[in-house]
Amino acid sequence: MTKYDFETIIERRGTGSLKWDAWSRRGHAADELPLWVADMDFKTVPAAIEALTERVTHGVFGYSMAPDGYYEAVQGWFERHHGWRPEREWFVMTPGVVFALAMAVTSFTQPGDAVIIQPPVYYPFRMMIEDNGRKMVASPLLYEGGRYTMDFEGFERELEKSGAKLFILCNPHNPVGRAWTEDELRRIGDICLRHNVVVVADEIHADFARAGHVHVPYASLGERYAKSAVVCTAPSKTFNLAGLQLSNIFIPNPDLRAAFRRTLDRTGYDEPSVFGVVATQACYEQGGEWLDELKGVLDQNYAVLEAAVSRMPGVELVPLESTYLPWLDCRGLGLDDAELKRLVEKEAKLWLDMGTMFGPEGAGFVRVNLASPKAMIEDACSRLERAVTALGE
Ligand SMILES: Cc1ncc(COP(=O)(O)O)c(C=O)c1O
Repeated sequence: MTKYDFETIIERRGTGSLKWDAWSRRGHAADELPLWVADMDFKTVPAAIEALTERVTHGVFGYSMAPDGYYEAVQGWFERHHGWRPEREWFVMTPGVVFALAMAVTSFTQPGDAVIIQPPVYYPFRMMIEDNGRKMVASPLLYEGGRYTMDFEGFERELEKSGAKLFILCNPHNPVGRAWTEDELRRIGDICLRHNVVVVADEIHADFARAGHVHVPYASLGERYAKSAVVCTAPSKTFNLAGLQLSNIFIPNPDLRAAFRRTLDRTGYDEPSVFGVVATQACYEQGGEWLDELKGVLDQNYAVLEAAVSRMPGVELVPLESTYLPWLDCRGLGLDDAELKRLVEKEAKLWLDMGTMFGPEGAGFVRVNLASPKAMIEDACSRLERAVTALGE
């Protein structure tokens, strides 16, 4: 018996949805089914909708602040779900994780300094480095036998060569879907400690570890790791609240936190939107069961994709350990990137994120967003299967 509705297809066109309404501005066609940007086509937790409705009905929208219950709700969630409790004084709230990445880059490096990342990786990492006048240094992940791993030796070599003092870690990793193990995190963390590198851990997809995998919060590795970490979290992926623009950044080291806060203060940003606060608190307090059910639905969607891909010669599914964003290896189709884009958009009529957006290492790959009702995922899979099959005819 299911308690929540993850089946109804909700019309999002005309609601100011980036995913559904931005197609013409972004050079896409109206008939491309959008499975690109990482939000979900599901309503959020009913308790959050009720809390928001009550707050809207109150009708007074003056300056807001997060009440004590907000902090307790966030702390309780991380403790129950990840066995790690962020302390109250570590909190810094920002209007998004990408915003926080920009704050970290400008707080802990100078113009021209190097910042290291592990492509293929969420493309705003590179943008926040380069748009702020810093130099992006790549330590690409290794891809062997259908599995991505970190290149520890290469990473250390790049650190030594570039003198990078900041690393943006994607934990779990979007788009390759790895939930990094404690051992992997410790190895990369030890290299960073040896070289005095601050680790910005983007853990926005923390709640999506699939069966057989766990999320290891980077700062849970121990005090030394926590003291050089900026941990970026948000309720936005977990509960589909991205439009409410609120993220919780945990910075255990008071010096790093003070530097980050000074940069944040200079932007003029102050208190978060009341809607973000109300929804976040309700979700972290009452969204556990909803999330469990959602993860079951995402697993079913993954099985649909897996079955479809098995019927597509030349396409391989990279095993998904976390996130709801599987990564498809289409290199066996023998297409260049323009041809692959054409196949996806013009033949399959899908709007997906092309692999090259995540770095040149993503050439020949595409990323799919599974967070839609099953009927939509089935439709998307048959569109892709038809297009791939037609290639071989
Ligand atoms: C790894 C990662 N970080 C950050 C974000 C975006 O975060 P925000 O909307 O809070 O800026 C996303 C969204 O897809 C993401 O995948």
